[in-house]
Formats: sequence, structure tokens, C-alpha cells
Amino acid sequence: MAKSRSVFYCTECGARLGKWAGQCPECGGWNCIVEEVAPAQGHRAVGYAGGPAEVRTLAEVEHVAEVRTPTGIVELDRVLGGGMVAGSVVLIGGDPGIGKSTLLLQAVARATGGAGLSSLYVSGEESLQQISLRAHRLGVQQSSIRLLAETQVERMLAVAERDRPRVMVVDSIQTVFTELLASAPGSVGQVRESAARLVRYAKQTGTILFLIGHVTKEGTLAGPRVLEHMVDSVLYFEGDSGSQYRVVRAIKNRYGAVNELGVFAMTDTGLREVSNPSAIFLSRHAEDVPGSVVMVTREGSRPLLVEVQALVDESRLANPRRVVLGLEQNRLAMLLAVLHRHGGVATYDQDVFVNVVGGVRVAETGADLPVLLAVMSSLRNRPLSKHLIVFGEVGLAGEIRPVPGGPERLQEAAKHGFTRAVVAKGNAPSAKRPIEGMEVIAVERLGEALEASG
Ligand code: TYD
Ligand code: MG
Repeated sequence: MAKSRSVFYCTECGARLGKWAGQCPECGGWNCIVEEVAPAQGHRAVGYAGGPAEVRTLAEVEHVAEVRTPTGIVELDRVLGGGMVAGSVVLIGGDPGIGKSTLLLQAVARATGGAGLSSLYVSGEESLQQISLRAHRLGVQQSSIRLLAETQVERMLAVAERDRPRVMVVDSIQTVFTELLASAPGSVGQVRESAARLVRYAKQTGTILFLIGHVTKEGTLAGPRVLEHMVDSVLYFEGDSGSQYRVVRAIKNRYGAVNELGVFAMTDTGLREVSNPSAIFLSRHAEDVPGSVVMVTREGSRPLLVEVQALVDESRLANPRRVVLGLEQNRLAMLLAVLHRHGGVATYDQDVFVNVVGGVRVAETGADLPVLLAVMSSLRNRPLSKHLIVFGEVGLAGEIRPVPGGPERLQEAAKHGFTRAVVAKGNAPSAKRPIEGMEVIAVERLGEALEASG
């Protein structure tokens, strides 16, 4: 095969350059030039099946039911949609130190031991001694896990071709490089090209491939974001470094539902599954405190009780601060505008901080009403009852809308001792099927909700 050369492209305007530059001479954009491999002369299109790609009708395509191999870690299997699929590529992203290597070493150990799959764990970050120390700490018994400390993708693939592992882990994709490109490991071009080669290998051989990627706080320069479209599933690790709980969330999954959660606790012997996570994120104050509201969110198929906290404080800034952790930033500005127009409460001279306790992210609109009630509670310095739970979407017209899964959410809250709920009318249980021990206040307008919770 002729040796490939690398070329440089602008990711903004598509201009092709002979060498790297900080600024694109065509469109003037900064930091948008990436290195890519130019296709070699005589390059032939090869499909995933190994031969030249050909067109078939849907009916002609043989239907092969995907075979799932459980990892043996139930919470991980849940986010994967029921287990690992041959030839699938899963990207696991998360902050450094959150537990990605730990989880995958545990998963590989289970898969090697329980399901008897051959495995290859490639680390570009740690030496074999370090991995062995970790394995010891985790109590991993499977001495047959094959380890490789390597960062060059060509050598990695050569080992994989020889050993043909069924499960392969690459930790982490940011450390991997291909000799075809001159740029440093971790740059966009390197990450993308190395990942593309690994993905192609997995598809052609039916290998289950896990790629680990770091996410930087600043929003990922050469991070896994550029890989999201190449892989079959993207899982993200979430959690507070201060808390022992870790949440793994599927944000893309070609083989299952998205937004399914797996919950783990980091212990001194690795990650332990939390099979009933509904109340782990509650802080359970001894007294009622202002600015705190408990909501029931539904993540994937399970209801989860989380505490939403707000702090509203007089601002000395011309542009008061709106800071949100664990929720969508823009949504807060919208909710405060609704509160002003439809609740008659102005916050333009107040700093507003909103946080979801425990480092979880709530991605659904059911958090709208809890956020507003927490803001009101802090602003008035009046605590809400600690037996109250709230959920509901708030519309721009000041209406309170129902969210999916109302009855399950109320049931779960009742199970944990909550006795009062403020929810949208559409979420209230019918008179025939009341929820035992739960007084449900159904509201339609923001004003009613403010009154009911007061
Ligand atoms: P690690 O899996 O190395 O994180 P990542 O690969 O995402 O960077 O996890 C590192 C953290 O987990 C580290 O701070 C130590 C902690 N830890 C435990 O608390 N218990 C354990 O058994 C292990 C292996 C790690
Ligand atoms: Mg690691």
C-alpha cells in the first residue's frame, strides 16, 4: 500500500492547506485547522464487511438478531441496553479520576471470568504494574485478562489481530496516536484518526470495543466530542468528586434507550452497584431549610429523588448572576422571566444560584416547578415543608404542565415518607386510585403552585 501523507483542513470553511496554521488564511477562523490523513493512491472503498461496499435491498439484508453478552455488572448492562453487542463501539467519557478505568477493569474482569470472553486491556496512561496494583485492590481474580501498555494504534491493532480478543478496552483515546500523522497525541486529528482505525477494526472483526475519553472542564478541545458520531454508544460518567456516588448515563445508544442511568458507589475496593438508588441524593436536613425543594425526576426507567437548592441574594452587579449546576443554564433565565410575568415576583436585582445536590444532572423539564419554588423559598426566606415533593414543567404562559410517569414518581416519593405533593393537574392520580399517605395538590397555573406550597 502506498504510504499516506497528511493534509490540513479548516474545520470551519473546508479549505485545504499544505501545513498547519493557527489561523485559517481563507476564512480567518482561529484554531480550526486539523491534520488528517490524505487517502493513499489507489485507495479502494471497503465496506464494514471487509469487501467492497455493495447495494442491496432491505429485504436482501440478512437479519441477524444482535446477541448481547452481559458484562455481569447489572448497572452497566442497564445503560448499555442489556449487555454488550459484538462489533459495537462504546465511548465512555468523564472527568479525570472519576472512575472510568476502574469500571472498565471491573467489567473486563467480569466478562473474562463470568462469560469467558477473551479480553485485551490496552492502557496508554498506566504501566502494567499500576494496573496490576489496581486489579489487586479491586480483588480481581482473573489472571487471564491480557494487558498491554501501548500508545501507537498500529502496534495495538497488530496485537489485536494476533490475539483476536472478544472484548477490547483502550484507555484512553487521548493517549493514542497513529504514525500517519505528525501532530501530538490528543490533538483532534490524532484522536479522530486513531479512533476511526479502532472502530473499523471492531466492525470488521466483531470485537466489542470500549474507548475511554477524558472530558475537560472547559468543554473538550480534542475530547471525546469529536468521536460521538463515530461510535455506537456514548456513556458519560457524572458525579461530585466529593460524593461517593457515580452516575453513568447513556447519551447516545444505537442498541438501547438513551438517558438510562447506572448508579455506582466508589468504595475502597472499586465501584459497587447501587441497585436501588432512588433516595441516595437526598441530604435529609434535620430542619426545614429555605431554598431547598425535593423533586422526583425520572431518569431512564427509574424514579429518582433529588434535592434542588436555590440561593437568591441581593446583587451589586449591573448584570446579576444566574448560576446553575446540574440543570440547563438558559432554562433558569426563562423560568425567572415566567416568575416575573406570571407570578409578579421580580429578581432583576438578585443573584440567583441553583444547584442539584450530589452532582447529578437533571435533563428533564420536570425540574421547572421545583426550581421556581426553591427560588421563591430562598427569596422569601421561608422554608418549605420537608415532607413536600414537587415536579412539573412550567410553560411560557405560566401554565404548569404534566410530565411523563406521574404515578410512579408519586409512588416512589410516598415510599420514602413524603406526604405532600404539588404537581400538574395531569399528573394527579385519579380519585379511584389515590396514592396512600400522599396528599396531592394539583395545580394548573404558577400562581396556584406558589400558593399551594407556601
Ligand atoms: P480511575 O478509575 O483511575 O479514574 P479515571 O480512569 O476516570 O481517571 O479512578 C480513580 C479514583 O478512584 C481515584 O481517585 C481513587 C479512586 N478509587 C477508589 O476510591 N477505590 C478504588 O478501589 C479504586 C481503584 C480507585
Ligand atoms: Mg484512568
